[in-house]
Amino acid sequence: MHGRIFSGIQPTHGIHLGNYLGAIRNWVVLQDSGAYECIYCIVDQHALTTLHDPGAMRANTREVAAALLASGIDPERSILFVQSHVPAHTQLYWVLGCVTPLGWLNRMTQFKEKAGKDREGAPLGLYAYPVLQAADILAYRATHVPVGEDQKQHLELSRDIAGAFNRKFGVDYFPLPEPMILGEATRVMSLRDGTKKMSKSDPSDMSRINLTDDPDTIALKIRRAKSDSILGIWYDPENRPEASNLLTIYAALAERPRAEVEAELRETPFSAFKTRLAELVIEKIAPISARMRELLAEPAEIDRLLARGAERAAAIAIPILEEVYRIVGFLPPVSR
Ligand code: TYM
Repeated sequence: MHGRIFSGIQPTHGIHLGNYLGAIRNWVVLQDSGAYECIYCIVDQHALTTLHDPGAMRANTREVAAALLASGIDPERSILFVQSHVPAHTQLYWVLGCVTPLGWLNRMTQFKEKAGKDREGAPLGLYAYPVLQAADILAYRATHVPVGEDQKQHLELSRDIAGAFNRKFGVDYFPLPEPMILGEATRVMSLRDGTKKMSKSDPSDMSRINLTDDPDTIALKIRRAKSDSILGIWYDPENRPEASNLLTIYAALAERPRAEVEAELRETPFSAFKTRLAELVIEKIAPISARMRELLAEPAEIDRLLARGAERAAAIAIPILEEVYRIVGFLPPVSR
């Protein structure tokens, strides 16, 4: 084994192609490599920073679980669970919060983006979010964290927090987790604006491909995707952000190097390229959507798998939390 992997995804919405190419597909590859112990978490407590609709929270949590299973996460080989089922995350979060300077949190761009202009009205949870993210990872003493590029800053902070804990208490307890940003599509952009990230929070559903979209919807979204009037497709994110994004998606889905695909598409008109892209997206996504629908028809089975995953996750996290409590000097309850 090369180490222990931890990664998470929020159930704020269904899963889109950015999540799939930037993260989930890599999670499956890493699981299948057999080289790591893999722990994958649906981070509902993180989603609560922005989602205040209990029905949607419940439905999205199961939907994300189904999407992960349908994409190839095997609940036997990987540990798949829901964050709120394992209290060790929030328990460790408090300890880590006590070694994290506010100055570090003030630098987080995601807080600034999400809080927008109303900083005073933003919830504490949104501000403290990256500390909980560090706790997620460190509760397992994970060594590697596969994510998309947008999580880079949060992961640097997780490393800093791990280092701060070690230094403050004079231990070498937490490994500094390594980000793994893998594949061709580490930052998938919106279909409507090639300079904006494809995101769950974009109000326009036309901006993203969801794993639940049917073939007609996928074809329509790609046909309507923003394009330019230059003949031929090549990679030039500065001047042709949309063409570059669609080319990257194509290469990632085809599992071929971008340069190779680019050489092939140099003379292809945009509309013909879009037709090929739509076919490829449908070929790759339709089987996942179909499997998701089957899984979602049996929610009790999903809940059972998640409960089993939480037991396995807790079995790793509880002894780590106990050791942290010992390191910081919390008096153990006598029965321990
Ligand atoms: P979240 O739920 O926003 O996204 C889940 C994963 O998808 C990746 N991703 C993308 N990759 C490429 N292009 C995009 N347009 C795109 N959009 C999203 C993200 O990088 C991520 O890997 N804070 C995290 C969740 C989290 C977490 C953790 C991750 C909580 N605790 C511990 C790792 C370790 C988040 O909001 O991801």
